[in-house]
Amino acid sequence: QGPCDIYAAGGTPCVAAHSTTRALYGAYTGPLYQVRRASDNTTRDIAPLAAGGVANAATQDTFCAGTTCLITVIYDQSGRNNRLTQAPPGGFQGPAAGGYDNLANATAAPITVGGHKAYGVYVAPGTGYRNNNATGTATGDQPEGMYAILDGTHYNGGCCFDYGNAERNSRDNGNGTMEAIYFGNSKTWGYGAGNGPWIMADLENGLFSGVNQRYNANDPSISHRFLTAIVKGGPNRWAIRGGNAQSGGVSTFYDGVRPNVAGYNPMKKEGAIILGIGGDNSIGARGTFYEGVMTSGYPSDATENAVQANITAAGYATSSAGTGLTPGTSVSLRATTPGYTDRYVHHTGSTVDSVVVGSGSSATEKGNASWTVRTGLGSGSCVSFESKNVPGQYLRHQNYRMYLQANDGSALFAQDATFCPEAGRNGQGVSLRSLNFADRYVRHYDNVVYIAANGGSNTFDNANAYSDDVSWLVSSPWAS
Ligand code: AHR
Repeated sequence: QGPCDIYAAGGTPCVAAHSTTRALYGAYTGPLYQVRRASDNTTRDIAPLAAGGVANAATQDTFCAGTTCLITVIYDQSGRNNRLTQAPPGGFQGPAAGGYDNLANATAAPITVGGHKAYGVYVAPGTGYRNNNATGTATGDQPEGMYAILDGTHYNGGCCFDYGNAERNSRDNGNGTMEAIYFGNSKTWGYGAGNGPWIMADLENGLFSGVNQRYNANDPSISHRFLTAIVKGGPNRWAIRGGNAQSGGVSTFYDGVRPNVAGYNPMKKEGAIILGIGGDNSIGARGTFYEGVMTSGYPSDATENAVQANITAAGYATSSAGTGLTPGTSVSLRATTPGYTDRYVHHTGSTVDSVVVGSGSSATEKGNASWTVRTGLGSGSCVSFESKNVPGQYLRHQNYRMYLQANDGSALFAQDATFCPEAGRNGQGVSLRSLNFADRYVRHYDNVVYIAANGGSNTFDNANAYSDDVSWLVSSPWAS
């Protein structure tokens, strides 16, 4: 059984079912998504390993070996052909040719599902998918349900990382002309408790966290590494729900009447489908999508709870599991760049550098290259590194450079000192993604350590040797 079998049994069948990670029906064997490689511009469909199973990521790895691949199509498993492809220009132009949005890099969001490798859809700002000709989706005030599994640690405040129902002409057609799941920490429109990120509903000209236009206390900040986000809407009733896609149930953050703002009751849904962008093709947002569906009819909470049970049973996990970054243990982080594999992440006072450490190094040197892994100060799903020699001081970035500093207890310090482990970009060890600058990874460059973006504007963002420089072997600590 897949999520869409559960929705169908509940009388609210899927009319769109998108996933690059797994089949969403127990019997589905068709293609999940298509990739295109740069070397010769040919494409390849990626299907599940078995009926109802996880994506065959090895097909992608083989096809994309030695080149780069983009995700060109996210197929619709519902049988309606409501597939998602490169979003066209609308109210805003995308950065690609003809004003289209960018396509996602096919290897940028590696994970495992049930122990099998799979890839999500990594949306950097400028990336977007859309289908303006979808059929069977809710229009007008018709009821619908949606859920998506997202990376709760990858977001920003730009407009708008959305998945769901939007305008068919990619333009802002007024209040109520869209109804999509939003995830991020935008406070331009509505927001909830804490500093975000929040699950909200993008209803056009407004991200809504509840009945009020701006603040609703019951919509919590939520940032599970794998996040289940739910929005559903029907005649003068809608709801926001969410939870941890790895365990437990979903909670209801709003369930009630339409917002107390003109234009949203009745709704004027148009039935197009968007991913990663706003209804008017706003392209300021980032996020990661693994799977999501849209239904016909307003799903019951019980149906959604059963879907959440199916999701947690699927076994989403980060592919860094087993890399040895277990909170409470001590490690050293060794470079993997050819010619530099005797170097380790080390601190000299507050400066964080990459230094050659060996058995002949002094005890101080060894201690300065040893770290106690801590549960992430800014996210329980990620990690922080506390100095072995100077307990209480942590690796943190400031102006994209890494420093060793005492934890001042601030929210900013917690964010700056938190890194989310992923499989090493060059296939070795681990890459450490900055929690609050999700396109940046811990990198050594000219013997100094930064958080660097591949091909960004700083010298240390140099694309040359990037994947080697951001991949670290987790080794036994020089000082234990
Ligand atoms: O509702 C928020 C955003 O406002 C929509 O996504 C976009 O179409 C408009 O800019």
